[in-house]
Amino acid sequence: TDKEIVGSVKEQLAKLFEESLRAAFPDIEDVQPMIAICNDSRHGDYQCNNAMSLWNKIKGQGTQFRGPQPVGKAIIDNLPASEMIERCSTAGPGFINVVLKKQWIAKSIEKMLIDGIETWAPKLPVKRTVVDFSSPNIAKEMHVGHLRSTIIGDTLARMLEFSNVEVLRRNHVGDWGTQFGMLIEYLFDKIPNWEAASAQAIGDLQAFYKASKQRFDNDPDFKERAQKAVVSLQGGEEKYRKAWTQICEISREEFQRVYERLGVHLEEKGESFYNPYIPKALDLLNNKGLIQESEGARVIFIEGKKIPLIVVKRDGGFNYASTDLTALWYRLNEEKADWMIYVTDVGQREHFEMVFAAAKLAGWLPLNENDFPKASHVGFGLVLGDDGKRFRTRSTEVVKLVDLLDEAKSRCKLALEERAGKATEWTAEELEQTAEAVGYGAVKYADLKNNRLTNYTFNFDQMLSDKGNTAVYLLYAHARICSIIRKSGRDIEELKKVGGIVLAHPDERALGLHLLQFAEIVEEACINLLPNLLCEYLYKLSEDFTKFYTNCQVVGSTEETSRLLLCEATAVVMRKCFHLLGITPVYKI
Ligand code: ARG
Repeated sequence: TDKEIVGSVKEQLAKLFEESLRAAFPDIEDVQPMIAICNDSRHGDYQCNNAMSLWNKIKGQGTQFRGPQPVGKAIIDNLPASEMIERCSTAGPGFINVVLKKQWIAKSIEKMLIDGIETWAPKLPVKRTVVDFSSPNIAKEMHVGHLRSTIIGDTLARMLEFSNVEVLRRNHVGDWGTQFGMLIEYLFDKIPNWEAASAQAIGDLQAFYKASKQRFDNDPDFKERAQKAVVSLQGGEEKYRKAWTQICEISREEFQRVYERLGVHLEEKGESFYNPYIPKALDLLNNKGLIQESEGARVIFIEGKKIPLIVVKRDGGFNYASTDLTALWYRLNEEKADWMIYVTDVGQREHFEMVFAAAKLAGWLPLNENDFPKASHVGFGLVLGDDGKRFRTRSTEVVKLVDLLDEAKSRCKLALEERAGKATEWTAEELEQTAEAVGYGAVKYADLKNNRLTNYTFNFDQMLSDKGNTAVYLLYAHARICSIIRKSGRDIEELKKVGGIVLAHPDERALGLHLLQFAEIVEEACINLLPNLLCEYLYKLSEDFTKFYTNCQVVGSTEETSRLLLCEATAVVMRKCFHLLGITPVYKI
């Protein structure tokens, strides 16, 4: 959009306070305004917290000020005139409470309705990020852990993209490793005409993997052939290369089906992609004196870690760590990314800590955690079943993702059909699409709403309930707002042009302020890599709306225009939240 991005409320307030800090304390350099949302909304909307630390800085220097409160007062007195602030007051040891003008809140919302929600995008200190997510292993099962990575990674990517950051969505698939030796040999044995064979001939790739593994473990002859096959493959022998390509292709198609259902876009650059670059990357590390010999392997010792990071195995082969070090190098130097984000279960935290530490030792990454370029591991907990154990279904060992999505959808369809006739008429197509949107949305939201580090329990009844903090509840709330607007019979596009939001009632003002805080929540969720913050925001938005709608008559009231515009703004922001969470909104229920 060519419309100006206004930035968050915090950022706009920071500009004002920066001016006043400079005017009130011209001798002190580099004071960054510290702006936060007020903990207690009775005291104000925002607060500025600079007075105390400023006081600590100047108190020994014969200042005219007699404590943090007068410092706070001086900051207030030097604020430039603005449309934004109604009044300020100091409290406690110099906290400055800020109350925003409700006319300014209203104007900001009117402007967003015309210019678009994109003008409420946060401004982030990065240009290009790599989000490494999903990343299943070829021929092995894509399990619920990969589902979490896919859902969380996609949301992070969407939030960063919305914030005008370029995102390289990387699927770091496990397509290179010793398991390919046995897979290839098994393919040769089982399907003699494998070159012409279709995917159906191999059938279920997971079963194929299991069978080949069993053969590998029990047949010494086969085992030897498989080990030789790895060497042939890595040596680039044509026949082996071809077989490998075919196995990867079949796996890829299976993954793709899941991604399509989830509406997730990924670009595959698997482990094999980095393989040719590994010797060069290891040379760079070696030249810095980082690589040492240990028990026949080549390793990097990291301070504070008991076990070193192995980068060349005893048999001379490369491994997961050498690949990740190389990928990090590649992303920094070839792709020029300034933020590398890795989404995997917390079990891999140690691995990434060591890789990032090695990159710091090599001078690839700055030592300070807060400086860019930066690498971050986004860990997440387990998915549990109702029994509190790792989530599994009765029939199979692992849960098939596609089955999960199917079940969510069919349960939703049933619930919708029960409502149908009573409240809503559906065409078959509408019913299908709505069931899908609500069902898949419920699975995603149940995953995203918790802090990602905690384990979460997978429970259809809970996630598909239309009460409480669920996608179903939120999607219905949105549809209800749309229906209020529809039923009013007013042309919302016309109303937008006329404008006229008035936030007279306290519940109107509270809703308006919360709408305005959208940008800073997205910013916080991006910077801290916590999608649950956006879920909390969305849920509170629906609560604030309910309060408003309960206490303020919309249709038929004298404030109808203003209140319809507030409904519309709520719907717009809710839809953007859904979009960022990878959930398709529905307009009718
Ligand atoms: N394939 C790995 C797994 O399934 C995840 C890869 C994560 N990304 C990375 N760059 N290591 O556990």
